[in-house]
Amino acid sequence: MKLRWFGHSAFEIISEEETRILIDPFISNNPTCKIPVEELKADLIFVTHGHADHMGDAMEIADRNKALLVGTHELSVFFSKQGLESEGMNIGGSLKFDDIKVTMVDARHSPDIDFTDEIIPGGSACGFIFQLEDGRRIYHAGDTGLFTDMKTVIGEIYKPNIALLPIGDRYTMGPEDAITAAKWISPQKVIPMHYNTFPVIEQDPTIFKETLEKETSIEVIILGPGETYKE
Ligand code: NI
Ligand code: MN
Repeated sequence: MKLRWFGHSAFEIISEEETRILIDPFISNNPTCKIPVEELKADLIFVTHGHADHMGDAMEIADRNKALLVGTHELSVFFSKQGLESEGMNIGGSLKFDDIKVTMVDARHSPDIDFTDEIIPGGSACGFIFQLEDGRRIYHAGDTGLFTDMKTVIGEIYKPNIALLPIGDRYTMGPEDAITAAKWISPQKVIPMHYNTFPVIEQDPTIFKETLEKETSIEVIILGPGETYKE
């Protein structure tokens, strides 16, 4: 499994069977991402909510790659109206793509599509649990504040191995709440996201790493934009 971070909440997962997954591909307007959007390939593209920094280039990449766009029912209706292939789902539901199972989970955040002339309702903001062919589970939290289902539903039921958590503050959890979130979810590894893209979400991820690793056995992996983590 390869997990590449493009900065912000944009990730690529390439599974053992070479399925290419993109999550929140905010690439061309992402000041930290130096990778040209034309280079990205995808089979499946997941969008956690309708904000421009998460929808990003999802539609352009989907169109060019004939990739399937997956989001809430409301986002899926929007994608379909643009003539794109899309599947909608909702919180608590799962979809299978061959041997990969994806579950939509809650996130506490505003969901609407904000880059159109008028704001369009986007259903709910969400996170995703990706269960890959080998059973490994990756949790992408989307944009969210701390919520107790991270302990009960996500930690105790879905038991992710790797959690991708926002630490930028202001629009999502900051580092302190993300430390609590990580303790509740209790994965083996955490990768911080949604920080240092813009001045308003500036954070030092090393403080998050040092604190969490001192207080728990969780390993924090700090990626730079464009870097890949493999296991
Ligand atoms: Ni957002
Ligand atoms: Mn955001």
